[in-house]
Amino acid sequence: MKNLDLELTSLADTEKLGRLLGEIAKPGDLIILSGGLGAGKTTITQFIGAGLKLPADCYITSPTFSLMHEYRGRLTLYHMDLYRLSSEEEIEELGFLDYIYGDGLTVIEWPDRLGSLLPDEYLEVKLEAGEDEDTRSARLTAIGPEWLNRMTVIKQTFSKKIRKSAKIT
Ligand SMILES: Nc1ncnc2c1ncn2[C@@H]1O[C@H](COP(=O)(O)OP(=O)(O)O)[C@@H](O)[C@H]1O
Ligand SMILES: [Mg+2]
Repeated sequence: MKNLDLELTSLADTEKLGRLLGEIAKPGDLIILSGGLGAGKTTITQFIGAGLKLPADCYITSPTFSLMHEYRGRLTLYHMDLYRLSSEEEIEELGFLDYIYGDGLTVIEWPDRLGSLLPDEYLEVKLEAGEDEDTRSARLTAIGPEWLNRMTVIKQTFSKKIRKSAKIT
């Protein structure tokens, strides 16, 4: 099962998903976060940080202007926001591939900028606005065997949150 469609009906659901992803993350992992402004990309990254056991005084903020923030938890978290970048060359020149292919967990907002730089293994979380203010839909797509294996545990944990209309594709 490559895709999993979840209905996150509250911030607490997003927290549960983020924490789980932080807990099951392995060295070298990449999670890309798609979705428009306000979809919840930075918010879910904060919960991923909690799952990685970042120190409590370590508050994750949007890296829109600084492009990348680094935090040390169970794994090092590299949190990037590529919104202000426009080309693959620019991303390469900044040395971001060293992080993406490094030993930490890289989480990337606005990952479409990566284009052909995307590796063979990653998890995509696509967040979209839902029916009300606190509702989001999340489509998880596992690329490569590493994340595909872990989809089972995510599916079990969220068995009650799988979207009825589009269960598994
Ligand atoms: N279920 C939810 N999941 C994620 N964010 C939510 C949810 N419900 C409300 N929000 C709010 O939506 C906003 C999302 O903003 P942010 O995470 O900065 O979005 P992005 O990084 O995608 O632009 C936050 O203020 C957050 O508290
Ligand atoms: Mg953001």
